[in-house]
Amino acid sequence: MEKIGILTGGGDCPGLNAVIRAVVRRSHALGFDVLGIKNGWAGLIHGYVEPLTDFSVSGILPRGGTILGTSRTNPFRELDHVQKLKSNWQRFGLNYLVAVGGEDTLGVAYKLFKQEAYLIVGVPKTIDNDLAGTDYTFGFDTAVQIVTEAIDRIHTTAESHRRVMVVEVMGRHAGWIATYSGMAGGADCILVPERKFNVDEVCALIKKRIDRGKEFAIVVVSEGATPDETHQVMTKPGHIDAFGHAQLGGIGDWLGAQVETRTGIETRVTVLGHVQRGGTPTAYDRVLATRFGLKAIELIREKQFGYMASLRGTEIVAAPIEDALSQKLLDPKVFDDAAVFFG
Ligand code: F6P
Repeated sequence: MEKIGILTGGGDCPGLNAVIRAVVRRSHALGFDVLGIKNGWAGLIHGYVEPLTDFSVSGILPRGGTILGTSRTNPFRELDHVQKLKSNWQRFGLNYLVAVGGEDTLGVAYKLFKQEAYLIVGVPKTIDNDLAGTDYTFGFDTAVQIVTEAIDRIHTTAESHRRVMVVEVMGRHAGWIATYSGMAGGADCILVPERKFNVDEVCALIKKRIDRGKEFAIVVVSEGATPDETHQVMTKPGHIDAFGHAQLGGIGDWLGAQVETRTGIETRVTVLGHVQRGGTPTAYDRVLATRFGLKAIELIREKQFGYMASLRGTEIVAAPIEDALSQKLLDPKVFDDAAVFFG
């Protein structure tokens, strides 16, 4: 019997378990064995695996996180790790692999396919929705839902205290989460990585709002947004992952202090952080993740290795994994629509 491995890498994301369930159920129906690889590429390097049965994936559809665990492991960082990965692939009798992840995990998958001829297909994931090669990634809808709910709650306390509330959200390279949730939550200003911002302009928007009789304001800022006076993304010192990414954070606090000083209005900052990635996926994300998982098995059956599942309009299609290695920045038209309601 042929064997399919599956791993989830990078940051966790609501919908990962729906992908795993779909891959396992479809594979078994077609007569494949499925081996779960634990903790992303680390599992293949160090040999942490568990056979997946229909029973072991029963009940996981609505669960957040990933039952396989995840990590930001880069096998190409250490020479002997690629060797270990190869000998474990052999040892476990793998024929094919489904790699579920973002640009880093899929980058490794692409390299293994291209350089080592491994039979790998991909499933793109990130709450940030910033992968090219697919219209949307699962996890994004859930994150937007969570942030919108948070903004609704922050709204009532902002109004009661007549404060400016700054809400920092995820979005390393792209402002999809900030823009969609800011638009849904009625934000008075949205700041995204794609457009450097000017603090005085932010303050002017807040004052404009005060002048028209509103005594509070909500500002949504992506973690990767940069002020034009520093030109720097704010990071947490000392936290660099195996792919060379710094941990972001700090722009909300910085902006909150600037706004309070420059406007004289009491300001509070909420950093939503990993709340945005946790918990149960929305129905939309469960469906998208399930369809991506089914497509991954279809790609294997059709021997379309080096390809990944992708959403184009309402269709699930095949796209080269390579496409996901570049960023999909925010559609400027969507941002301009959101900006109509600023101030
Ligand atoms: O890639 C998604 C993401 O949520 C980014 O927006 C964020 O910068 C990063 O993951 C944080 O990941 P972690 O803190 O888990 O390493």
